[in-house]
Amino acid sequence: MKVLIYSARDFEIPYLKAANNSRHQLEFTNESLCSKTAMQAVGYDAVCIFSADEACFLTIEKLKDFNVKYITLRSVGYDNVNLRAAKRLGIKVANIPAYSPHAIAEHAVSLLLNLNRRIIESNRRFKRFNFKLDGLIGMDLHQKTVGIVGTGKIGSVMAKIMHGFGCKLLGYDLEKDEELETNFGLEYCSLEQLCEQSHIISIHVPLNAETHYLINDELFYMMKSDVIIINTARGAIINTEHLIEALKENRIGAYGSDVYEHEKGVFFKDLSQQVPDDLNLIQLNALPNVLLTGHHAYLTEEALTNIADQTFQNLDRWAAGESCPNELTQYETN
Ligand code: COI
Repeated sequence: MKVLIYSARDFEIPYLKAANNSRHQLEFTNESLCSKTAMQAVGYDAVCIFSADEACFLTIEKLKDFNVKYITLRSVGYDNVNLRAAKRLGIKVANIPAYSPHAIAEHAVSLLLNLNRRIIESNRRFKRFNFKLDGLIGMDLHQKTVGIVGTGKIGSVMAKIMHGFGCKLLGYDLEKDEELETNFGLEYCSLEQLCEQSHIISIHVPLNAETHYLINDELFYMMKSDVIIINTARGAIINTEHLIEALKENRIGAYGSDVYEHEKGVFFKDLSQQVPDDLNLIQLNALPNVLLTGHHAYLTEEALTNIADQTFQNLDRWAAGESCPNELTQYETN
């Protein structure tokens, strides 16, 4: 198959080339897929995209006109693809449902530990040989309550790690994970109860119509005033404006995130020579109790290897005329 790989970053190309092992004919572009760049896919059977790409209705229509038959995502999340349009136009779409839930959950834990123990501020002081400890007090995680919003693959790893810290676990999900209940003592409850009772809230749900702005002022007002919220899922699961107000008014303790509601077109680029034209991002970045990373929770050797391997397994299945197990069938949700 001829495959155009959009948003290809230098660090991932060796993994993709190795996994392909010359089976498919690959072309890499560092541009993101959108209705303007869809034109580059003329002559390709498949496009391979990432979270920074936008496969909206217009883009998919263009891909169809250019005779592209397959879209394979190098991600778990597929909120950037209009699946209904793809289905209607007969373009098959597949994702990578689990390349490394550990990579994401471990990043969530790093954000939590860094925020709680003020590691970045402590190190900043140390670099200047300022060994004063004022303002660096955190809390023991042991025996604290952690609310896991979304107990799927990533959320369940997060729950197990936090169980190892001796935390009490609350969970909110439409489907219950019995193993978490039986072996890790996780108790399912309503989102409201989770927000009221948790010292730490970690978000692991996909972004869709039901979860857009799931965490908003109504819930922020129910939370403990020192709660630490961690988001390694998608920015738009939290209402950013409500979040900023809650942080500024000290209604919540701290926020650690690898994602941002308006990250498209901003993340994955070096914008250090210009100030981003986004007041919310500037405000969030300026708050002392906020720790942000630029969507790099997935960046481990294992995750990159699995993403590359499974991308070509998806393409192999389609090339052989077989059905692909990672094909996305929940078209109603998007
Ligand atoms: C995902 O897998 O959905 C991510 O957010 C990480 C990245 C590979 C896009």
